[in-house]
Amino acid sequence: MVVTVDLPSADATRALGAALADILRAGDLVILTGDLGAGKTTFTQGLGAALGVRGHVSSPTFIVAREHAAGLRPDGTRGPGLVHVDAYRLGGLDELDALDLDSSLEDSVTVVEWGAGLAEALTEDRLEIELVRPRGGLLDLENPEAGVRHATLRGVGPRWADIDLKTLANPAD
Ligand SMILES: Nc1ncnc2c1ncn2[C@@H]1O[C@H](COP(=O)(O)OP(=O)(O)OP(=O)(O)O)[C@@H](O)[C@H]1O
Ligand SMILES: [Mg+2]
Repeated sequence: MVVTVDLPSADATRALGAALADILRAGDLVILTGDLGAGKTTFTQGLGAALGVRGHVSSPTFIVAREHAAGLRPDGTRGPGLVHVDAYRLGGLDELDALDLDSSLEDSVTVVEWGAGLAEALTEDRLEIELVRPRGGLLDLENPEAGVRHATLRGVGPRWADIDLKTLANPAD
């Protein structure tokens, strides 16, 4: 099942990440694809804030993987940690294990940016999210918010078989 969510603003992109924080749990893998400036980091910021993780979520471009320790969700309950990966710098997801992260992937939600092309090689359960800017080509530096966006979500594997992603459609409504 593929679910499409309209993202009329950066806040809507953050809200989608926040809504997913209620569904995602430790050990989950999210593969985030989308062109330059599509909103991948914005999405991850919304997710990280709602999970309550420590530290500022920003682009992982120059660091391969950034680890955010678990913290308290806005409702006071303890959330999982967040591992934010730039797959572009990684040969494949199997190299994730070789990074020798402090956090264990079992205790964290792992978000991989730029996962396109790697996803086919995966056999694990995963949530694939594609952020699409239909009018967008390259990011317009003068006007980074330009271009109507939407997200398509697809759960793969038994972990996602019984999860109804339709509840995420247009979370801002
Ligand atoms: N749904 C949206 N509508 C309008 N603007 C948005 C939306 N989502 C994100 N933005 C804006 O688009 C810009 C780029 O977002 P972001 O940095 O999250 O993209 P990215 O996919 O991580 O880019 P990169 O490929 O450089 O990593 C930011 O200014 C952000 O506020
Ligand atoms: Mg980014």
